[in-house]
Amino acid sequence: MNNNLQFSGRNLYDLDTYSVEEINTIFETAKIMKEINKRDYKKIPTLRGKTIATLFFEESTRTRISFELAAKRLSADVVSFSAIGSSVKKGEGLQDTVYTLNAMGIDLYVVRHSCPGAPQLVHKYSQKPVLNAGDGRHAHPTQALLDMFSIWEKKGTLKGLKVTIVGDILHSRVLRSNLTGMRKMGAKATVCGPRTLMPPKIEEVYGAKSEYDLYNAVKGADVIMALRMQLERQEEGLFPGLGEYSRKYGLSKEVLKYAKEDVLIMHPGPMNRGVEILPEVADSPHSIIIEQVTNGVAIRMALLFLILGGRTN
Ligand code: CP
Repeated sequence: MNNNLQFSGRNLYDLDTYSVEEINTIFETAKIMKEINKRDYKKIPTLRGKTIATLFFEESTRTRISFELAAKRLSADVVSFSAIGSSVKKGEGLQDTVYTLNAMGIDLYVVRHSCPGAPQLVHKYSQKPVLNAGDGRHAHPTQALLDMFSIWEKKGTLKGLKVTIVGDILHSRVLRSNLTGMRKMGAKATVCGPRTLMPPKIEEVYGAKSEYDLYNAVKGADVIMALRMQLERQEEGLFPGLGEYSRKYGLSKEVLKYAKEDVLIMHPGPMNRGVEILPEVADSPHSIIIEQVTNGVAIRMALLFLILGGRTN
């Protein structure tokens, strides 16, 4: 396994700065990492001596744990910073937090923050590679990479596939990174949701088709991805109620009949069962939701390996 030098020391803020060839290299590397994760002894010494900090200013289960596991499986040391329980509560800002961690010898930062652009600031203050683990509504590139890798593994390519993404289109950073990546990789994306949750110019900016009727949106789809209905937005009055939302936009067995016979069902998580997706679909043979989580570790191992210049010998 040779490290590809074009990745060394790079930041990952979103997928717009990564080429098709680079995304394919990340997939090929993740495939190898996935094999390592199946072994009894799931560890290689490639990043021994490196220290990775995960900086989470927002809640997370999947992203945080998978990044930490990924780093540990490559033998890096990991420090885990969470705003809750840190000196942020005493008024310490982002700049001083990063200066403090940097003084302890961090080699790479993983950052989740509610403010778009926070990962760029962490790079400015640290001068170290930064991987965006979700910044506000802006982007969540490692989620998009693991989503696209999950499709690529099953279908062999993304080129020409119809991918329908249903849900809270307006607030989703997962959606934005997926649309950027999928357009690059040649998939044909359709987005679907209530008009109040649909941003303007989605076709113009991302080349995605917009639909308001779920049955039209999933017609002939190779992949359907449900997005979390952000329950906290309900207070903004953007849709009448969860029951009505679920009846119009929830993924049910009935909806699946309109898609291709071998349609893949995806969800980035966390999932509101019974709202955007019914258990009969989430737990069906079409669902690759659990495999997406497994792939999250492999994709993050691949990125850490490529960016930190890992060696296997
Ligand atoms: N998909 C995702 O970002 O999940 P977490 O919020 O649990 O990390």
